[in-house]
Amino acid sequence: MQDVKGKYIWILGASSGIGAALAKELASSGAIIALSARRADKLNELRATLAGEGHIVAPLDVADHASIQNAQSEILKSFPQIDSALFMAAMYSPHDGKTKKIERIHEMLHVNLGGAFNMVDVVKPQFESQGHGQIVICASVAGYRGLPTGQPYCAAKAALLNLSESLKVELEPKNIDVKVICPGFVKTPLTDKNDFPMPMIIEAEDSAIAIKKGLCSRAFEIHFPKRFTYIMKLLHILPHWLYFVVARKMRG
Ligand SMILES: NC(=O)c1ccc[n+]([C@@H]2O[C@H](COP(=O)([O-])OP(=O)(O)OC[C@H]3O[C@@H](n4cnc5c(N)ncnc54)[C@H](OP(=O)(O)O)[C@@H]3O)[C@@H](O)[C@H]2O)c1
Repeated sequence: MQDVKGKYIWILGASSGIGAALAKELASSGAIIALSARRADKLNELRATLAGEGHIVAPLDVADHASIQNAQSEILKSFPQIDSALFMAAMYSPHDGKTKKIERIHEMLHVNLGGAFNMVDVVKPQFESQGHGQIVICASVAGYRGLPTGQPYCAAKAALLNLSESLKVELEPKNIDVKVICPGFVKTPLTDKNDFPMPMIIEAEDSAIAIKKGLCSRAFEIHFPKRFTYIMKLLHILPHWLYFVVARKMRG
């Protein structure tokens, strides 16, 4: 994609935070947006604020494959095609004991990882029949390494990075572009739950500008803010013994 102007873009996880800010940013640059998440009221409020015309609301639950299929069918009644589909949905709990309950772990994996598989399964045939498309999956720098207290959120994000790499190579011959987003800390309802200092945290509007730029670039990975993500990338390439020295200090 060289420009978002006039492109039909589907955001799953658009009702708050980065997804909502991205919808506004893309719409103000001339894209036509399909807004999806579970909370239809929030999506309708957001649609009313978007620049331009033609934006639609298609509520769904990413954990439910059939609801994504239904949403796609609804979207294609209004849109001639879908140029790009972004998986921005996630649930998160801080490390408070609840996260470690096995039912909660399965739920988080089902939404954060299973939801991405569901989206890919639904949009891939549509993109193949169109002859083009773009799949964008939001992972995180939290997926670069196993961070102390991070599981299962980190584990799902690591798997999303891995999934995106596989898809990138598999889908290239079908003219389907695949990208992964790895944000550092962004101020959203998700991070508002954290009670620890979040270094180099940025506003959701700034993350949206970085993502819009990345969608039109040739880069596979969209990561920001660079001053933070390069530190995390350094951790990523450390040998295990050295990484564990650093990780033990993080654990305290
Ligand atoms: N904020 C950060 O610092 C940060 C850093 C790295 C990565 N990320 C990633 O960035 C993405 C956006 O996060 P955010 O910070 O903007 O969080 P957020 O404000 O909590 O937004 C999460 C979005 O996911 C949707 N969602 C959750 N469960 C869903 C489900 N079962 N079906 C459909 N939609 C669902 C929510 O909508 P409903 O509740 O209406 O369904 C909401 O729109 C996530 O993938 C997150 O992991 C964030």
